[in-house]
Amino acid sequence: MDGTIRIGALLSGSGSNLQAIIDACNSKRVDGKVVFAGADKPDAYGLKRAQENGIPTFVADYKKITAQAQDGSIDKSLPGDFDLEQILASQQLISESFDEERQARYFRARAICEAALLKEMASYPFDLLVLAGFMRVLSPYFIDRVNTNPKKPRIMNIHPALLPAFPGVDGYGDTFRYGCKVGGCTVHFLDYGEDTGPIIGQKSFRITSDDTLESVKARGLNLEWELYCECIQLFAQNRLKLAVKSWTLKNGSIFRRKVVQISA
Ligand code: GAR
Repeated sequence: MDGTIRIGALLSGSGSNLQAIIDACNSKRVDGKVVFAGADKPDAYGLKRAQENGIPTFVADYKKITAQAQDGSIDKSLPGDFDLEQILASQQLISESFDEERQARYFRARAICEAALLKEMASYPFDLLVLAGFMRVLSPYFIDRVNTNPKKPRIMNIHPALLPAFPGVDGYGDTFRYGCKVGGCTVHFLDYGEDTGPIIGQKSFRITSDDTLESVKARGLNLEWELYCECIQLFAQNRLKLAVKSWTLKNGSIFRRKVVQISA
């Protein structure tokens, strides 16, 4: 693939990143077209932005789906191709110290919601899926059904911190409260952990004593819009390759990491 890509987007909130991507496609800074926007809740404002731009939308209402599955039997709602053993073997989301029952409950509930997402997405073929403020962790059930070629990941996420610092749900807040003098944002491919996947790009900004959490968030968000579009364009140009790097550390142990290489 080298040219115009079909971009699917998932979001939970305001959708300012989605808007930046739509604008970049319209102005040809990104060789792509947004083909759907999906959300995990019906009141996500980003859905409205998509509709105003003629982009099809859908909702897989996580709250409702989870409640319904608990009312009836969870097992009856489980997708037919759900394989708990396989998911437990690959997941890096919850600690193995949690008992098996708890792990099973967590991944069953995820898979039920994710199957609803995948069902909606099936109507819109896409080359790249961007998480644009999608505030749900995606489990191996979902990831494996989108990333069908292990050498060519195609789910990107934007995170409001300089990973690997401050993963989780409040990147700018965590950065600010920690007293960091630099903040930033990161775009990475999704893997089986939370905000742990191979890094595609990062941008940073200074934080001074005049800053407030609001000013940090505003500055970060502005950089996110640029960074996300640049990373998507690299994908469209087929310039992103995964490589496994190994390093022998001073104590003799081996550090191995999947990294993204950007070709010229
Ligand atoms: C952005 O700051 C994005 O980095 C963050 O949510 C915000 C969404 O804004 N995402 C995460 O924290 C993912 N863990 P938007 O809806 O205006 O694009």
